[in-house]
Amino acid sequence: MESEVLGRIAPNSTPVQAEMIAYAGVVPKVGDYVVVDSEESKLLGMISNVVRGALELARNDLLQANYYDTILEVVGSPSDWLKATIRMIGILSGGELTGLPRAPPPTGALVRRAPADLLRRIFAPPTGREGIRLGKLLTRGDVTVHLDPDELISRHLAVLAVTGGGKSNSVAVILEEIVRMGGVAILFDVHSEYTGMSLGCPHCEVETVDPVLDPNTLTVDELGSLLGVTYDSAPKQFIYLKSAFKRAKELLIRERLGEYLTRAEIEADRDDLLAGIQAIIQLSLSREKESDDRFLIPFPSNDRGSIESLLAKVDFVRSKYGRVLKPTAGELADHLNYGKLVIVDLGQLDSDLTDVVVGKTLYTILMRAKLKRIGRGYEDFPTPVFAVLEEAHALIPSIERTYTSSAAASIAKEGRKFGVGLCLVSQRPKRLNPDVLSQMVNKIILRVVEPEDQAYVRRATEFLSEEMVSYLPSLDVGEAVVVGPMVRIPALVKVRLFEGKRGGESLKAYDMWREGLRRRLNASPDEYYDSIGG
Ligand SMILES: Nc1ncnc2c1ncn2[C@@H]1O[C@H](COP(=O)(O)OP(=O)(O)OP(=O)(O)O)[C@@H](O)[C@H]1O
Ligand SMILES: [Mg+2]
Repeated sequence: MESEVLGRIAPNSTPVQAEMIAYAGVVPKVGDYVVVDSEESKLLGMISNVVRGALELARNDLLQANYYDTILEVVGSPSDWLKATIRMIGILSGGELTGLPRAPPPTGALVRRAPADLLRRIFAPPTGREGIRLGKLLTRGDVTVHLDPDELISRHLAVLAVTGGGKSNSVAVILEEIVRMGGVAILFDVHSEYTGMSLGCPHCEVETVDPVLDPNTLTVDELGSLLGVTYDSAPKQFIYLKSAFKRAKELLIRERLGEYLTRAEIEADRDDLLAGIQAIIQLSLSREKESDDRFLIPFPSNDRGSIESLLAKVDFVRSKYGRVLKPTAGELADHLNYGKLVIVDLGQLDSDLTDVVVGKTLYTILMRAKLKRIGRGYEDFPTPVFAVLEEAHALIPSIERTYTSSAAASIAKEGRKFGVGLCLVSQRPKRLNPDVLSQMVNKIILRVVEPEDQAYVRRATEFLSEEMVSYLPSLDVGEAVVVGPMVRIPALVKVRLFEGKRGGESLKAYDMWREGLRRRLNASPDEYYDSIGG
């Protein structure tokens, strides 16, 4: 069709990038797809930049708009020219996309708008399977973009944008689609943004769980993270913690822990490992020299200070986290199932405990998936699992190593083999650990304003050109650059609005105040004072 012709290739093109001079009256749009047509080949490309100029006004000495007026009076409307930069995506052969071009397109080759049916084929669900319906192409409201679930799980995902850019909405859309197809998902909801979320499909289940930790399932390293006692930060305390941990475990197995709790006058369940550790440390500190109880820890007198400090930390953590540390609570991973989303509501926890809860759960999921895969148990554990971390820059920061960052690094590396996919959501990409971020090969990048964040996103993303990064601040809410193997070609997408109910949508301040005031004025004085607790 004649109207689909946009322009012709200008000199100096490369196999990666070409310039196109547009026909008069044609205004190419950034993000739109084009087909470069020549006898040699047919290439698919994306417009990454457009520059406009006017012949009659292209003079350096027109330093006042008055000069423009004078020229425009003579010429009428200026003869505009438009030049577009085209980023090459692949070779088209028989209507299918095959490989990357190795030679530049010929100068003068015709450039057309890519036909919608070609794009529909490219963004269709993978053959014979369902896809994750994310939204429509920004420049083509008639082309739906589907993500490949297999690639999403195996190459992980990062969702990046300023606050209010549409990250959680995108996550909700993806989770709904995954659960609809029977998928297994867990969401670590740091700001209680998703509490009360429901999904639209009949078999979809959502369970919000309180973060509980069974101290008896913690490893000594996890316990150390919780207490702030690691081998690097406090080696002596860590060694005594390890001894107490080993002894308490043995007493637990021999069902003798209660004895030690009574002796130390600690009120706790007989099978509470952390209380047992406290009892052992306490009794070791107060034991008589000649005691030969092998469950108490011998120590030289100059280590007394370290052990006392360890005891204080155990005592502090037990009283601070009593609500969350529950022996026999089981693991959060026990809640996972097919066609189900588990939301872990972390809103009430401090960052230390959040780190241990998330890190531990990620390790548990990876370990179970691994054992299942190699046939060493957990054959009923539902896999593959998609694990989403909101506020990922807080949990996996670039400046320090956290327990969650070690777990996330293990999943980024090994998750693909065992069926654990990670999704990191963040509004501060530059604060996110760069090694972990770079392994999130799939990316949904919505509006990003801060230059350092943009530079960071660019470094971590293969296809993003300088010009495309410069468009990130002007993206509207829900508009995203989508790259990675989950889509066959990079795309600018208008993510659809999540249809189900989600908790964390932006508040409608005006409406809420008006409604509150209306209720206050309509209430009888008694009702009013009752409502404010008077
Ligand atoms: N694709 C979309 N289409 C239309 N509106 C959207 C879209 N995505 C988000 N919104 C609107 O923008 C608001 C904020 O979106 P969302 O909660 O997803 O942002 P966010 O990036 O998660 O923000 P925060 O960093 O504060 O958590 C939503 O309440 C919703 O109304
Ligand atoms: Mg959000």
